[in-house]
Amino acid sequence: MSKLLNCLINKDFSCVPVWFMRQAGRYLPEFRQLRHENPNFLKLCFNSNLATEITLQPMKRFNLDAAIIFSDILVIPYALGQSIEFREKGGPWSPNLNIGKFLETKEKDFLLTLNPVYETIKKTRNTLKKNKSLIAFVGAPWTLIIYLYNLKKQNQLNEKISIKNKDEIKLVLKKLDEFLKIHIMYQKKAGAEIIQIFDSWAGLIQEENLNEYCFTPNKSLVNFCRENKIPVICFPKGLKNNYKKFLDEVKPDAINIDQEIDPIWAKNNLGGICIQGGMDPNLLLKNEKTAMEETEKYLDAFKNNPYIFNLGHGILPKTNPNIIKKIVDRVNQVKR
Ligand code: CP3
Repeated sequence: MSKLLNCLINKDFSCVPVWFMRQAGRYLPEFRQLRHENPNFLKLCFNSNLATEITLQPMKRFNLDAAIIFSDILVIPYALGQSIEFREKGGPWSPNLNIGKFLETKEKDFLLTLNPVYETIKKTRNTLKKNKSLIAFVGAPWTLIIYLYNLKKQNQLNEKISIKNKDEIKLVLKKLDEFLKIHIMYQKKAGAEIIQIFDSWAGLIQEENLNEYCFTPNKSLVNFCRENKIPVICFPKGLKNNYKKFLDEVKPDAINIDQEIDPIWAKNNLGGICIQGGMDPNLLLKNEKTAMEETEKYLDAFKNNPYIFNLGHGILPKTNPNIIKKIVDRVNQVKR
């Protein structure tokens, strides 16, 4: 069994597996080169040869325990008939939501669009060493809704969002629940061994709506993974103290904490289950000493708990790949 699965499933904390969100991305010159030659981001996600190559880029440089498939959470709204633009500034944008098309998309057409992602998974699994895990992922319904309706205000990142079109949102949630499960199943069939559910904007949900927009939809996906024996990691970013409530309600196999969560608080309040991540990606932009001290802080806080080393969010584009190598090598030395 791989080091990552042994930690995730058997809660073995004698070693600390390591991988990073956005480990295939713009901080790597070899990614920037391919990206420059392929200006259409979604097309790149659907080019299974190139997507496989990108998935494997960080595996060639670093002794990571898992590859995460190169794709995006927004391939789902795209496969449900929506146009998605990846703009240089301001992030992804959905210019004109067509709710009819969204709700009426059939499974057959959805799978036809997403087939290259499954091909990428097959090709990656065939190349990846046996002792390395392959992670696939989905965006949680709320986070997908944020992009579908362009709800994120650029200048007020922390302002909670009130939902006005509640009846329509109910239909959207139902459709996403059904089709995300299909995507999870096909990713598993293609060879993915672990699913991570990204709820990157969970922190923008009003307290009174947490059940409806966060806990219930995540729980439905987690239960589906469990029924199908797929280990699942949740990342409800920005929930602060409600991380505990999330864990009690949703019960994933592991939870990724963000940089707002104090690791000691996490150990005391979320401990027992496998914890992943936490370190602030901004600290990797400072000097090496700071980054290595912070690495020790997380290794130390979770020394008696199953822990997967990762960050509190994705690797930032300005990160020096050498610091990633240093951290990976240090984490690989841990033996308890
Ligand atoms: O290495 C990996 O982590 C695997 C691939 C991956 C990407 N996106 C590739 C990508 C994964 C797991 C994602 C998930 C994703 N996509 C999330 C959840 C995680 C998170 O970051 O919160 C979200 C919210 C998205 C939507 C998305 N896609 C945004 C907001 C952006 C723009 C922001 C940015 O970092 O540029 C993207 C584009 C994107 N997805 C890039 C990559 C490598 C950068 C695109 C580029 O090369 O220009």
